[in-house]
Amino acid sequence: MKKRVGILTSGGDCPGLNATLRGVAKALYERMGDNVEIVGISNGYYGLINGDARVMQPDEFSGILTVGGTILGTKRTPFKLMRVVGDDQVDKVAAMKKNYKDLKLDCLLTLGGNGTHKTANLLSEEGLNIIGLPKTIDNDIYGTDVTFGFHTAVDIATEVIDRVHTTAGSHSRVMVVELMGNKAGWLTLYAGIAGGADIILIPELPYSIDHVCAAVEKRAQKGKNFSILAVAEGVYDVEEARMKKKERAARRADAGETTATNRIARQIEQMTGFETRVCVPGHMQRGGSPSAYDRVLATQFGTYAAKLVEAERFGVTVAMKNGHVCENALSEIAGKSRLVPESHDMLAVARRMGISLG
Ligand code: F6P
Repeated sequence: MKKRVGILTSGGDCPGLNATLRGVAKALYERMGDNVEIVGISNGYYGLINGDARVMQPDEFSGILTVGGTILGTKRTPFKLMRVVGDDQVDKVAAMKKNYKDLKLDCLLTLGGNGTHKTANLLSEEGLNIIGLPKTIDNDIYGTDVTFGFHTAVDIATEVIDRVHTTAGSHSRVMVVELMGNKAGWLTLYAGIAGGADIILIPELPYSIDHVCAAVEKRAQKGKNFSILAVAEGVYDVEEARMKKKERAARRADAGETTATNRIARQIEQMTGFETRVCVPGHMQRGGSPSAYDRVLATQFGTYAAKLVEAERFGVTVAMKNGHVCENALSEIAGKSRLVPESHDMLAVARRMGISLG
């Protein structure tokens, strides 16, 4: 019997979404031929809620391996609002179940990050046949060593750090590069090491501005006329670390700060006398073509998901563990995230290199 496979991309985009869609589709068509039909759902769960979907043609999955973004479109539809009926009176969960049924789907593949996986688990608990695929530049999905999109973002962020080196050296400045990552510091840690940053600040390790400035001064004493900081957007200092979330947010709002980056730059300038500049590559970190690493990973993950479809193995998400592609139960990983543990090897590497972690 012909299988109808729904597929959607949800949450923030990243390089590798199209490569993963292609991996899923090519492997499904290869394995199941005319016995499979892929239904593309537009703009993530928003499209599923609103029944915005269409049968895809095999050709649509060709030529997209190297293309950034997602051919299906994506949207953030927060998990915490899934059970909340808004002004439009739409019961989102009921609508998704109805559209899944009306579209005659046998299963649904959801490509996304932590929020996407929470909703995927909810739909699985509601009886839908779900397979997740782990996407995010943050690399913070529980139960997988790596997510697609992460390594491309590391490459992009590394290039930013490389490029600010020469301008920092020319002007004898400190450059503070703010990288994405609200809760998880993986991107900043890896790009910081790859780019040879002198100071790396991540959300998992609250920083002391005194330590940061001491590191800049130590370099100056060694005759280095510049320093480079790689700072995750979600960092906070030791004082903020002691505050409750709300108190911290209020302090930030009073100071007109969204992130700590500008404050860090200002304090470095005041305390060390070094002229300091901020560089925020922002969404560039999520744009453009996936790296070779991510193309391979996306293809590994996509083809594995196709195998799961054929085996009718649902309520799971694809993962990489110790170099092997495997799957985790959605119920085991949903609602958890993977942050940089204090004991992580890469922190030890940074410390051995004399990189200050604040
Ligand atoms: O989750 C990926 C991510 O890029 C985070 O690192 C970042 O904080 C956030 O998305 C930005 O979201 P948006 O694209 O909605 O501004």
